[in-house]
Amino acid sequence: MTATSHDDQAKMRLINDVGFNRYFKAATWAEYNRQFFDGLAEKYDATNVMHSFGTKRSIDRAAVARLPITPGARVLDLCTGSGDIAIRMARLHPDVRVVGVDASPAMLRVASRKAGPLLDRIELMEGDALALPFADGHFDGAVISFGLRNLTSLRAGLQEMARVVKPGGFVCNIDQGQPRGRLFRIAYELHFRRLAPILGKLVFHRGEFNSFRYLPESNRYFPDQDSLCGIMGEVGLVNVRNFNYWRGAIAQQIAMVPAKGGD
Ligand SMILES: C[S@@+](CC[C@H](N)C(=O)[O-])C[C@H]1O[C@@H](n2cnc3c(N)ncnc32)[C@H](O)[C@@H]1O
Repeated sequence: MTATSHDDQAKMRLINDVGFNRYFKAATWAEYNRQFFDGLAEKYDATNVMHSFGTKRSIDRAAVARLPITPGARVLDLCTGSGDIAIRMARLHPDVRVVGVDASPAMLRVASRKAGPLLDRIELMEGDALALPFADGHFDGAVISFGLRNLTSLRAGLQEMARVVKPGGFVCNIDQGQPRGRLFRIAYELHFRRLAPILGKLVFHRGEFNSFRYLPESNRYFPDQDSLCGIMGEVGLVNVRNFNYWRGAIAQQIAMVPAKGGD
């Protein structure tokens, strides 16, 4: 995982490495992504259970509990997908309003179904993470979970999140990290690189199967938690903190948009 190779060229290599080009025809990385998640939508939650050994729910719960959400806040869940994080934030904080943005209409349909009555406080909208239709400082905080890796530019994604959050608000990323401990790392790599793709092929099919190749392959281009903390600082965020789950296999970074006149 390196911080500097997360660019368009790497993304286009990834398409070939994962085999997206066999299933989808698109001119840009963003369009490949939309097609991929539209196709995966109905099975997305099930693939997550397999990817995470069923731990995603408890990790989501712990990660959302860590967010510095203030009463009455307005929070963005970017790349909301099937809505897990948006729904959890709305459940934990009965007075917050959440906006979930995603490029895939099919993923948003799944999120809408799951949110049910919470839709009175969760607004779901189709949109591009790199060109958000919100004014500067519109939100009190913004979260992206397993979404930065999908963006054409990770830095531009973080900058856009920071732009729409008001000074003193938070920006949070949740994604895979570099696992700590040699033995655990070996077991983890074995699961993600060898076992999960085989299980994925047996249980899922066609484009869906590719998510089991996509995650480990995209890790080659995705920065680890230490590099991500550095990048968050470079884009102007302050007080960057990292929290590891599953020995760092999953990591959460929470940073603040500098308050006016200092941090
Ligand atoms: C791996 S899913 C993550 C879903 C959810 N946040 C979670 O934690 O389970 C990534 C999501 O990012 C969305 N996405 C990819 N590129 C995007 C973009 N440029 N703008 C908005 N959403 C995007 C995909 O449609 C997909 O739903």
